[in-house]
Amino acid sequence: MPRLISIRKCLYSFLGIVSLLVIVSIYKINKPVAPVQEQIFNNDLREQTAWPEEKQDIFGNIDDEVKNTIKPPEKPWFWRDGTEYPTKSKGPSRLFPDQADGDRIVNQLMYIPEDYQGYDSPEKTILLYNGFSGWGQKSGTAAFHQCPVSRCTLTADRSKASEADAILFKDRVVQPGVERPMKQVWILYHLECPYHTQSVKVPDSINWTSTYRRDSDIVAPYEYWMYYDPEVKTKEQDKDYAANKTKKVAWFVSNCGARNNRLQYAEELGKYIEVDIYGFCGNLKCPRSEDKRCFNLLKTDYKFYLAFENSNCRDYITEKLFINGLKYDVLPIVMGARPEEYQKVAPEGSYIHVEEFEGPQELAAYLHRLDKDPDLYNSYFKWKGTGQLINTHFWCRVCAMLHSPFGSKHYEDINDWWRGPGICTSKSWRSSEFV
Ligand SMILES: *[C@@H]1O[C@H](CO)[C@@H](O)[C@H](O)[C@H]1NC(C)=O
Ligand SMILES: *[C@@H]1O[C@H](CO)[C@@H](O)[C@H](O)[C@H]1NC(C)=O
Repeated sequence: MPRLISIRKCLYSFLGIVSLLVIVSIYKINKPVAPVQEQIFNNDLREQTAWPEEKQDIFGNIDDEVKNTIKPPEKPWFWRDGTEYPTKSKGPSRLFPDQADGDRIVNQLMYIPEDYQGYDSPEKTILLYNGFSGWGQKSGTAAFHQCPVSRCTLTADRSKASEADAILFKDRVVQPGVERPMKQVWILYHLECPYHTQSVKVPDSINWTSTYRRDSDIVAPYEYWMYYDPEVKTKEQDKDYAANKTKKVAWFVSNCGARNNRLQYAEELGKYIEVDIYGFCGNLKCPRSEDKRCFNLLKTDYKFYLAFENSNCRDYITEKLFINGLKYDVLPIVMGARPEEYQKVAPEGSYIHVEEFEGPQELAAYLHRLDKDPDLYNSYFKWKGTGQLINTHFWCRVCAMLHSPFGSKHYEDINDWWRGPGICTSKSWRSSEFV
């Protein structure tokens, strides 16, 4: 009898485990792969700016304060401490601009082709035609080790031009002068804005683009902000961000002649509110060796920071906003892309765009108002602790896309796409669009 009972027990527990597994797998299958997120990234490649960036653990210092905030139980693999890996993607892929809106970065990060066989899939060779300089990568497969789709290899050996699956041209396109296989994908990568890049001599030769522009095939933003929960964009703050700050506006800048006349704007602003300009274009100095101390001044002394880009171009938003500004508990005032473009990528209510105002005088008046009203000033910091900057794993996405069943595409005129009318302006967006 006792024997029989234990057999029955065994049977019951076995059935229990099986049904549990079935439930779990049903849940996994039905779970959406990833929501299309409004977006930002961080590739390893960026312009050497005059000021330091602490890439690691960005905004990480606030994590202690926000340990108890809303975070989903399981985070996707590309988040810090993320563990959720994608399973094979069924249905239509939503990787390219004509397949889905937005930057599609999360779709690409969570994509595994249905027929992908891991090591049994053919390896895709990506030729970096202009070499490895600036990429922080070596030839071989190392760049793909932690990718969901990892069967790819990098090379800079130009003799592979006739057999590579993809050729990536960084900043300039050089005709390889060998026959080009039908399936070979030419990718144009730009880090800099159109003013600082060359025209392409054969404008109909490019298949895919990879730039900070949100309508690129493989969007490569300077930084990429994501909310822990897209529904939760503000959080009660314990800190008074106005406390102890006695100074008004700071700006760290080394390049004085910029296409958007940002220096003139800052100087004009300086007539109505105190603007401290550090660096080559101003009268305050901060030696390179003391970068960190200078940046900490933003945290302790200044209320506002001019996160002015050097050019007003579509989607051109660099680390000047995300690192120099948002990281240092100072309210960034931005100039560069259009207001609605900042809105799509920055934490909500985290900055002021110069074009919300008629001009420097009106902006200064508002800054004075903020200066006298700590509650209003602090309302610009409510986003803190609601998300993080994530690494968007550029190479993983390139590899996943090369393994996808992509159709043929090319840009009729890449120069028109990259630098055509309406992409950049030397004036303010207001005056170039409404006058
Ligand atoms: C302001 O200064 C006081 C006194 O030095 C200090 O205790 C406090 O932590 C400071 N507040 C902030 C927000 O830095
Ligand atoms: C790439 O673009 C060329 C035109 O420059 C076109 O002939 C070719 O079919 C395209 N290939 C793919 C894979 O999109």
